[in-house]
Amino acid sequence: MKNETVLILDFGGQYRELIARRIREFGVYSEIKPCSITADEIREIAPIGIIFTGGPNSVYADETLRCDPEIFELGVPVLGICYGAQLMTHMLGGRVEACGTSEYGQTKVTVDNRFALFEGLEKDQVVLMSHTDRIVEMPEGFSVAASTEDCPFAAIVNEEKGFVGTQFHPEVNATEHGSAMLKNFLYNYCRAAGDYNMDDFIESQVKAVREQVGNEKVILGLSGGVDSAVCAALLAKAIPGQAICIFVDTGLMRKNEGDEVEAAFSGRELTFVRVNAEERFLSALKGVSEPEQKRKIIGKLFVDVFDEEAAKYGDAKFLVQGTIYPDVVESGTKGSATIKSHHNVGGLPEDIRFVGLVEPLRSLFKDEVRATGKKLGLPDYITNRQPFPGPGLGVRCIGEITKEKLDLLRDADAIWREELEKNKVRADQYFAVLTDMRSVGVMGDFRTYDYTVALRAVVTSDFMTAEYAPVPHPVLAEASRRITNEVKGVNRVVYDITGKPPATIEWE
Ligand code: XMP
Repeated sequence: MKNETVLILDFGGQYRELIARRIREFGVYSEIKPCSITADEIREIAPIGIIFTGGPNSVYADETLRCDPEIFELGVPVLGICYGAQLMTHMLGGRVEACGTSEYGQTKVTVDNRFALFEGLEKDQVVLMSHTDRIVEMPEGFSVAASTEDCPFAAIVNEEKGFVGTQFHPEVNATEHGSAMLKNFLYNYCRAAGDYNMDDFIESQVKAVREQVGNEKVILGLSGGVDSAVCAALLAKAIPGQAICIFVDTGLMRKNEGDEVEAAFSGRELTFVRVNAEERFLSALKGVSEPEQKRKIIGKLFVDVFDEEAAKYGDAKFLVQGTIYPDVVESGTKGSATIKSHHNVGGLPEDIRFVGLVEPLRSLFKDEVRATGKKLGLPDYITNRQPFPGPGLGVRCIGEITKEKLDLLRDADAIWREELEKNKVRADQYFAVLTDMRSVGVMGDFRTYDYTVALRAVVTSDFMTAEYAPVPHPVLAEASRRITNEVKGVNRVVYDITGKPPATIEWE
């Protein structure tokens, strides 16, 4: 049975994925669609509600950033946020104008909690405003449901039709009771039943995978990352014994990582193949120090090794990929200016023999993938993994890569991670980098000439921008003491205190 769905129409706002995730957190399945979607296409999906995102434009500036006017005739509740509210106002006969000055930041608002949108909420609260235009005249049938000092129409509602417009952003944490408002929209206007959860997701995907592949064999590339690992666990449940999971051990993994991945899959009903390709990678990288060249060599060799191994399983008919929802959205939503095509999306490579592609996680956000993995019994060290670059330690070992340098780096990195975790330091990604610099030191009565290790820990929500994590000095001191004592060949430790921009998270 199909889940109830809320559609999010993308008008180029930066919070579209956040909205989609919030809706799912309230037990309703959500999908992001370009704002150009037609009313007929929407009818086929039969959503219980529609949300218009915000966006950087003015409703008068760009005709293409309108929606199909028939959407308002579908009998489906609509929530317009910021630009979305202005668009709804404009298209339904109200008026929008530029504010004298842009309003940005947390603002006090007074809400009328007789409206279903604000049911159960206090009259006075704080919301996040971020706009240069504003509603100055409501369309017919609407009433004012909230106002601020500068913004008389901070929220407008047509209770009868279930049309709601908020000048502020209910989806962000800076709007104190934004979550309650979204929930009210879902349950009071859209009359949601809240039928979406991870258990159902697993059941429905198990069924879908069985239907798609029947008794055929499938091949999956296991990187050790969360997405492919969760795919593998799902396959073991859906089609026991039919999946061949190829794990290419590049020798560029972190300490004990290869063994951990192997341990996570032993005892599951799949064929786990570990290809030890360390020597091939090291010899291909010999003498190479330029970062982009290293990336290219690693990427190409990875595909070669995977293909060679996959060729041994000629009877496998399907390729499985761990594509997740943000990959799909990044590649496909036309309304937004920030499109980039994702390497995981776009179908089967042409020269490959497979008859079909299986993407069981295609509709999930990252946190949902982690939750699914936990439900499928994967260990925390897999489901909680931080992002790890495809080229692995190859881009954290600056300059030429050798086995000796990689081993130093693995040891230093393991100590750094252990110290941060032991001390519960909050950071979203943290690792050590082996710089290509050596310097003079003194150990006992001897002069040393050894490597410098750089420690990195960042706080970020999207990895597009990041701040360095304010790691307490005693933690830094202990990590430095342990690394210089326990890792032979390192005599200096530095902590990277640059954000992104101007730096990047990785060093290469
Ligand atoms: P940067 O260094 O660009 O990294 O600030 C942003 C995020 O992307 C990860 N990263 C990569 N991931 N292949 C990947 O799959 C790569 O080549 C790669 N380079 C960087 C990085 O770890 C960080 O989370």
